[in-house]
Amino acid sequence: MKRRLATLLDKVGLMPLTAFALDVARFSAGVPVYVLKGATPSFAYQGMVGLYCFTRGYSNDFISRFIGAANPRYRLASRVGILGRLDDARLRDIVRDLRTNGYHVFDEKLAPELCDRLMEIALETTCSVRAMDSDPAPPARVLYDRESPVGIRYDYHPSDLIRHVEVQDLMSDASMLAIAQEYLGSAPVLDIVAMWWHTAFSRKPDKTAAQYYHFDMDRVKWLKFFILLTDVSPSTGPHCFVPGSHRRGKTPRALLKRGYARLTDSEVREQFPNTDIVEFTGPRGTIIAEDTRGLHKGKHVQKGDRLMFELEFANSTFGADLPDDRLPHFSSEKLAAMARRYPRVYRLFLPKTGS
Ligand SMILES: [Fe+2]
Repeated sequence: MKRRLATLLDKVGLMPLTAFALDVARFSAGVPVYVLKGATPSFAYQGMVGLYCFTRGYSNDFISRFIGAANPRYRLASRVGILGRLDDARLRDIVRDLRTNGYHVFDEKLAPELCDRLMEIALETTCSVRAMDSDPAPPARVLYDRESPVGIRYDYHPSDLIRHVEVQDLMSDASMLAIAQEYLGSAPVLDIVAMWWHTAFSRKPDKTAAQYYHFDMDRVKWLKFFILLTDVSPSTGPHCFVPGSHRRGKTPRALLKRGYARLTDSEVREQFPNTDIVEFTGPRGTIIAEDTRGLHKGKHVQKGDRLMFELEFANSTFGADLPDDRLPHFSSEKLAAMARRYPRVYRLFLPKTGS
């Protein structure tokens, strides 16, 4: 019966409109639940993703206006941090670049001693080998051995990262916060602290390791900061991005109607014949801001490996499951002070008992 109805709607060209109406209903029904409970029902999240694909991004931008009005940007006491000193003009230029192209590569680099320390943390902390297209059940939790990898992607657990003072200092960086809130148009929420390796374990790209093009859609709007912790060349798996594809109406319906599907290089190239796809190569310490609503992937690593650190700021916690990785305590005085001043930003990570 259901299939018959779907075939009939499809025949008369009403299927997309019916799906759209259903997504509006699912999203709208989930909003009050989210407001009351602080958690998004999965049907509402699926509704948001469906609406994004149908409206080619207009729905998320529309919802973001309301989020921005309800959670205005903070008046920051400082905009100084790892990205230098951001005066009004520079902040405006960076945000304009992000709005136009979807990414910005900073001249400033993370200090070598901090890169060393994060590498040290990576090599002394166990991490999870992500399932692979060829092997859905690799070993669970291991110490990464750079000489003999056993998987394509190794992910660190956020709780193993955020207890370190160096990571807490990065979380509290005022320059990244200033850019995030200016881009998002609202007081942000820090919702991802991550670090992972990509290795040359496989000879071909892997879908599960995010080595095929895709767009992210965990939240309504967000901005990621990537920090390269190894030198990245064309053969060590640079992150790739299709400039401008984060803007509403820019990604063709032919790709969006496939939803969260992983896309091959030729499928993307076919739809963006005149776009120069960017590959982010650079020395360790390179910092990139990116709106991963645009199409992106980690290029397959041909030799060596690549270690990446990431922070994500979102305009709202509405969306996919939220992390449950509270700080054991504040190791960083800087973060403690920032959390007191800007509670919305750090609310997902605050220690349960305070500190
Ligand atoms: Fe992604």
